[in-house]
Amino acid sequence: MSLERTQVINFNSGPCALPTSVLEEAAKGLINYKGTGIGLAELSHRSGYFGAIVNDLAALIRTQLDVPPTHEVLFTQGGATGQFSAVVLNLLARHRLLYPELTDEERVMDYVVTGNWSKKASEEATRLGGGVVNIVTDARTVSEDHKTFASIPPHGSFQFSKKPAFVYYCENETIDGVQFSTDPKSSASFPWEAIKEEDFVPVVGDYSSSFLSRPIPDIARHALIYAGAQKNLGPAGLTVLIVRKDCLVDTDAAAKLGAQPVPITMDWKVIHANNSLYNTPPMFAMYVSQLVLEHAQSLGGMPAITLMNERKKDILYEVLDEGAAKGLFRLRVHKDSRSWMNQTFHVLGEGKEELFLEQADKAGFKALAGHRSVGGVRVSLYNAISEEQTAVLVNFIREFIKQNAA
Ligand SMILES: Cc1ncc(COP(=O)(O)O)c(C=O)c1O
Repeated sequence: MSLERTQVINFNSGPCALPTSVLEEAAKGLINYKGTGIGLAELSHRSGYFGAIVNDLAALIRTQLDVPPTHEVLFTQGGATGQFSAVVLNLLARHRLLYPELTDEERVMDYVVTGNWSKKASEEATRLGGGVVNIVTDARTVSEDHKTFASIPPHGSFQFSKKPAFVYYCENETIDGVQFSTDPKSSASFPWEAIKEEDFVPVVGDYSSSFLSRPIPDIARHALIYAGAQKNLGPAGLTVLIVRKDCLVDTDAAAKLGAQPVPITMDWKVIHANNSLYNTPPMFAMYVSQLVLEHAQSLGGMPAITLMNERKKDILYEVLDEGAAKGLFRLRVHKDSRSWMNQTFHVLGEGKEELFLEQADKAGFKALAGHRSVGGVRVSLYNAISEEQTAVLVNFIREFIKQNAA
């Protein structure tokens, strides 16, 4: 069987394309890891070989994202959705240890809802209970149809509670294509000015679909940054946590004070105490992630990747704006809140969207249909999509505009 796969370009939203050279290397390691005669997935997770992968992966993430010494890099399973629950359980336990006298109604969890993933996370917090959810802002209230997530709302609309147990946001909304800006002067930036540093309110960021696509602004101010691996990092099955050390709390002690007990595999302190090896980790996903990061390093690390991603999204939005100016496209998201990783739009006119997707598919551009809950078109430009591949798609779109705009 040939390992060639240049016949299509995979724009899937995650799991998504990974660098071919990395997968070739991984395929070798899957059969015979470092000449041991044993494949990576067959080694013991307690072996020195695998211990080295865990440490190296953490070190690579630390270097590339400039993780401060106040934070630990941990690995777990359960996906980003697992953290929807783990965030609530661990941070309410922390809050219980700090303020044992408060009632559950007085433990407020602040959710910034800018898209479908943060909405889902807030629903899990409501489901788990142990505190009450305050929706700090819901971006649908500021969109034209009051249904679509189309922008980061203006800072003035964020209603944080006084001293919440934590503040939660999703940095890049994969389904909607809405992302916070890294420019602190932009109205689409995260409103850090509204959160007093001296209150030590834990701020949690779901970075699943933007992790390692560009530097994380204000990384030190976060209590937790987490990401499912299956976008820019590696295969699904691995979840990365960057946790501030004061949020690794004794959840059993909190449970004695009335907090909900935390399932052991979700307990951040336990994960840390065991160097992310409390139980068998997703070894293959971690191995591939290590190779992906080594590859990224060889390309020039975060600065080079950031530049590449910036250029990719610029040329794509440019052609989409051309289509919008000609009345053929409608971009879902306001300019200042547009995602670098996921570009969402609609093709206007009877049957035109189906035609676009059909012609794109025939031309080898795969997985461009929008998420089933919102429809439309979604392009995902994760790290493994090259500038050349983006340019090929841009040319296709330009030709489609020429053929179909009135
Ligand atoms: C931003 C974001 N958060 C959470 C999730 C859920 O991730 P998982 O399927 O790993 O639970 C996704 C999945 O695409 C996502 O993009």
